[in-house]
Amino acid sequence: MKNKILLLLLSLSIFTGCDKTDSIDNKLKNIGYNNSEITVIKDKLTEDDIQYLLTLSYSDAYTKLMENKDFKNENLKNYIEYYEKNSAPVDDTIALVNADITEYNSSLVSLINEKYYKKENFERYYDYLTKNPNLSTKEVVTNVNSNLDHDYYTTDYAADLSKNTLILVNKYYKLSSDYAPDNLVHVTASYGGNGQYIKEEAFEEYKKMYTDMKVLGLNLLIRSSYRSYNYQTGLYNNYVAKDGKTNADTYSARPGYSEHQTGLAIDVGTPSTKNLGDFLYTDEYKWMIENAHNYGFILRYKEETEKITGYMYEPWHFRYVGKEVATYIKENDITYEEYYESFVK
Ligand code: DAL
Ligand code: ZN
Repeated sequence: MKNKILLLLLSLSIFTGCDKTDSIDNKLKNIGYNNSEITVIKDKLTEDDIQYLLTLSYSDAYTKLMENKDFKNENLKNYIEYYEKNSAPVDDTIALVNADITEYNSSLVSLINEKYYKKENFERYYDYLTKNPNLSTKEVVTNVNSNLDHDYYTTDYAADLSKNTLILVNKYYKLSSDYAPDNLVHVTASYGGNGQYIKEEAFEEYKKMYTDMKVLGLNLLIRSSYRSYNYQTGLYNNYVAKDGKTNADTYSARPGYSEHQTGLAIDVGTPSTKNLGDFLYTDEYKWMIENAHNYGFILRYKEETEKITGYMYEPWHFRYVGKEVATYIKENDITYEEYYESFVK
């Protein structure tokens, strides 16, 4: 008797189980899913998710979403809503929803796959892309990361002194008028100096570079290094008086915006160069382009980066950032603006 009851209970529970499975299959079938789609749904979704799916009408895209290798259960609702709202391809839907993006255009997947893409900049990339539809997504990321979606001199972010030798000073990041770096040291004549000052960390490496160049018969001279806010004011005002503000802004920093005020920048020449621009034609220049990164220096304002840095090509202006960073920047051919936003800020 006892056994009979047990058997009855067992068969009852099997029966209700089957009933439940059958009814889910049937309900899915009734909406329009075929057997292989039902297999996918039951494989990928939880019971709650299936109940949610049952509230929607049939779409062959839904199981395709589930079959995508980057499908995440927790995003199911978002995928479906995004897909319906934007009529985006399934793969784009998965990639963009996974990246927490709600907008859609066909460039966005390429945008989020850019090497220097930053999630927190997404809205800015999107606006910039909308305003500049002819730019590549690489250019959009580079430009926005370098703050070019703001006009020069309009942000006035305080340059972050805590970054030490990795500080960024440019047309967006400004130093205050009373800022002067500590541990400035004299560039002695024995190292090509003529009364200038430079930050000690930069000088240590500069001396090694100078000495290694000397061995090869190359002679470096420092034309300018640390410049105070007041000195830069006089310099800039002279250029403006001579050339007009628009022109002066292409080659001279306004006071507070010059990285010479950090003590980490050097303008170099040789005994044979009269003007700063002549440095381009020297063996010393050639050598520095190949080797300066090994001593922590980068060519800061290159010919092809005028838009990003905001300055014309300055073959004489090098900036100390340390060996590791200088090497990365050289090998990856990026500006300090881009490096800073991706790795320092
Ligand atoms: N010539 C560079 C940009 C400066 O004035 O700092
Ligand atoms: Zn300079």
